Amino acid sequence: MDFCPDLLIQLRGAKRVTALTGAGVSQESGLRTFRDPQTGIWSQHKPEDLASPEAFRRDPQLIWDWYAWRREAIKGVRPNPGHYALVKLSEHTPQFTLITQNVDGLHRMAGSTDVIELHGNIRLVRCSECGQIVENWEEVEGTVPRCTVCGGLLRPHVVWFGESLPRAELEAAVEAARTCDVFFSIGTSGIVQPAAALAYAAHNRGAKVVEINAKRTLLTPKADFVLSGKSGEVLPALVNAAWL
Ligand code: OAD
Repeated sequence: MDFCPDLLIQLRGAKRVTALTGAGVSQESGLRTFRDPQTGIWSQHKPEDLASPEAFRRDPQLIWDWYAWRREAIKGVRPNPGHYALVKLSEHTPQFTLITQNVDGLHRMAGSTDVIELHGNIRLVRCSECGQIVENWEEVEGTVPRCTVCGGLLRPHVVWFGESLPRAELEAAVEAARTCDVFFSIGTSGIVQPAAALAYAAHNRGAKVVEINAKRTLLTPKADFVLSGKSGEVLPALVNAAWL
């Protein structure tokens, strides 16, 4: 795989690199994206039916069961070469910030530290009343478990449509986007806000924007470098070309 020499120079000279990842990064681990035609989760379900506070109020059991099924589905899933290449990238960069929209926890499993999880983590649940985060709970078929502190229903610790992103995570992500020299947008359609705005915030502050995606997106015309292909192939090749 050949890379533009200017990109490699920018990468080697960068003091701060920020990367935003989306579902495409986990596709090669066997997880479904959201918006790819036919295979994307939202090509088969309406997001408001399964990923909204209204849906949970309407039918908590249905939503609990759907997330329990998704949690089960990711149990045996392992990080892929794209996740590991981001760990390598962080080792070569003085300051590296990884922001993800993914709730699968695969970046951490690959060894990335201090990951900013903008949309939460599907492996955790929290109380829908008091907000207490819960790591271990008893699963009893046909019931939604309750919080041991206040008795409220437990729900997945993810951001649903119509909900705000966690404030500290969003602030850290905006700061990392506005202060980096190179910003990567990897495996995301760039449709969901406010995550999608991060690349533009970086671009407006003079960062070089690099897009890695299997397809063109809304960001493609604005990106300084467009690397078309699978992140599990492009990222390791890029790290090799830049540093090894
Ligand atoms: P999408 O499904 O919207 O986009 C996935 C992107 O990954 C697309 O642009 C694909 O072309 C690209 N892609 C697929 N396979 C790839 C591969 N192997 N390598 C590189 N790129 C690949 O997923 P997101 O952009 O992550 O929100 O979606 C954003 C948010 O929408 C999600 O976090 C989720 C969803 O509703 C919440 O759950 C809150």
